[in-house]
Amino acid sequence: MSWIREGELTIIERFCANIIKAGPMPKHVAFIMDGNRRYAQKCHVERQEGHSQGFDKLAQTLRWCLNLGIREVTVYAFSIENFKRSKEEVDGLMDLARQKFSRLLEEQCFLNVCFAYTSRHEISNAVREMAWGVEQGLLEPSDVSESLLDKCLYTNNSPDPDLLIRTSGEVRLSDFLLWQTSHSCLVFQSVLWPEYSFWNLCEAILRFQMNYSALQKARDSYMEERRRQQMERDQAYVTKKLQQEGFASHGDSRRRRTLLQKCTATREERIQGFLQALEHKRADFFERLCTVSA
Ligand code: FPP
Ligand code: MG
Repeated sequence: MSWIREGELTIIERFCANIIKAGPMPKHVAFIMDGNRRYAQKCHVERQEGHSQGFDKLAQTLRWCLNLGIREVTVYAFSIENFKRSKEEVDGLMDLARQKFSRLLEEQCFLNVCFAYTSRHEISNAVREMAWGVEQGLLEPSDVSESLLDKCLYTNNSPDPDLLIRTSGEVRLSDFLLWQTSHSCLVFQSVLWPEYSFWNLCEAILRFQMNYSALQKARDSYMEERRRQQMERDQAYVTKKLQQEGFASHGDSRRRRTLLQKCTATREERIQGFLQALEHKRADFFERLCTVSA
């Protein structure tokens, strides 16, 4: 029996889903699933039961996302901070993860689970990787840029989330996807995660739709600025090169154009080489990790 594919929307839910789908839809949604323990307390059940129901809610939410045509979901399942909780609770969450996550991930090609994760750790790791690239002679210091940092994050294969939802009334990001959500629509909802409903999801999507054009505009102008900065860096490099060759910095426009093209192509080549080396380094790390824990 599948946890994801079983169960359809009711007629009224389907009707509303179709109306919502007529507007711009988020392609990637991130969730901070908060409020499991408050839910357990409210319902007078064990803490572990709150987490277990939280997990079931995740499976149900993925089903709704699938029905709404949302192609990618990322969830904050366990932060590095969560290790500070009691041993009993951490062990319980790990058991739950072992029992349930592998199956959920088998069924779900569109789910990313952030486990033992914090965003600042991810960003500082990406910076260390770029420093390693420079140290190894794979990168020039001038190759370090925001767009390269994007590619060094764990999320490099995914587009940034369009919409981030946090439940339980907390209005902070708690170190989740800080880099990736600078142009996302952030929606904070007071409902406790195990009580999350299809209608809560629709409300969050409506808020995304209401802010869609402002979000798009901000994202486009950021990308434009990023391109401009890269062009400026390349121009500065070419000016320096021309001066080294004894040309006046503004002189010989054909030589300048050729150098600019060469500079862009060699930078792209260096970055590709670095990213491949990084992929091998990460694959080796995971292989060693699996050998140690086997
Ligand atoms: C936050 O509620 C939830 C978590 C720390 C775990 C989130 C994960 C799930 C819901 C899915 C199942 C997860 C695993 C790891 C199998 P909280 O515990 O912070 O509750 P509170 O905010 O009411 O204290
Ligand atoms: Mg919490």
